[in-house]
Amino acid sequence: ASTLGSAAAGQGRYFGTAVSINRLSDATYSSILNREFNSVTAENEMKIDALEPQQNQFNYTTADRLITRANEMGAKVRGHTLAWHSQQPGWMQSMSGTALRNAMKNHITQVMTHYKGKIDSWDVVNEAFDDSNGGRRDSNLQRTGNDWIEDAFKTARAADPAVKLCYNDYNTDNWTWAKTQGVYNMVKDFKARGVPIDCVGFQSHFNSGSPYPSNYRTTLQNFADLGVDVQITELDIEGSGTTQANTYANVVRDCLAVTRCNGITVWGIRDSDSWRASGTPLLFDANGNPKQAYTSTLAAL
Ligand code: XIL
Repeated sequence: ASTLGSAAAGQGRYFGTAVSINRLSDATYSSILNREFNSVTAENEMKIDALEPQQNQFNYTTADRLITRANEMGAKVRGHTLAWHSQQPGWMQSMSGTALRNAMKNHITQVMTHYKGKIDSWDVVNEAFDDSNGGRRDSNLQRTGNDWIEDAFKTARAADPAVKLCYNDYNTDNWTWAKTQGVYNMVKDFKARGVPIDCVGFQSHFNSGSPYPSNYRTTLQNFADLGVDVQITELDIEGSGTTQANTYANVVRDCLAVTRCNGITVWGIRDSDSWRASGTPLLFDANGNPKQAYTSTLAAL
């Protein structure tokens, strides 16, 4: 196959990208999006502050444009994200206790109801674990009680029984890291107790501080063996040239080696679209030309 999306489809997978909706008017960006990808994630436009800027006043206008675009492309949509400590609107940041828990659940119910039938997988909870000790990250949501994550997943299942419900995080790629084990034990516990969870997203922002680990495939397989799908959700790889190209290919091969690895999403199209302030972590250069990393990725699919 000659594009990332068609090659991935040939393997029963998707190949997606984060989309920043205000970039859709850029002709180069837009044509690469149409050509290469068969899944999209809103880079910011489906976050809590974007969809519920005032409490219980929802604004879907911008995010709905991505749904329309995805439909035109025949692409899947990953929903990102319903409960998170970051990019909360001001009113939510200042809430606590039962009021915050109820606001979280209302957000999940309202947004999932609006997007029912239009989303493949939802990141129900994002980045809830601490970076170093394997426990929970301190946040206003965590302070509502340790059961906030399962409460979020149960609320999500009640709102839409058909969509896949994911837990998504970063630095959970290396099997030996405490954070990886913390998330693994939560998913294992949810499965044992019947808390609804269908998938785990591995953001996979690889850089010198958290490089691609040689046990990545082991991590994906171990999670899959708990009975969940696994997805690579925000891939970008610091570096350039052959080293970067080889790492991209390794990530693709690891996903394809795990039956329940459904798909790969890169976190942007061109290097100039990346959320990283500097560096060249993506598959296309600033002019929209495919990089060596693109060629190796396509070849590995
Ligand atoms: C980032 C976006 O790319 C930026 O535009 C925004 O300013 C901050 O958020 N983990 C996530 C993503 O789950 O939502 C983040 O996206 C990157 C890290």
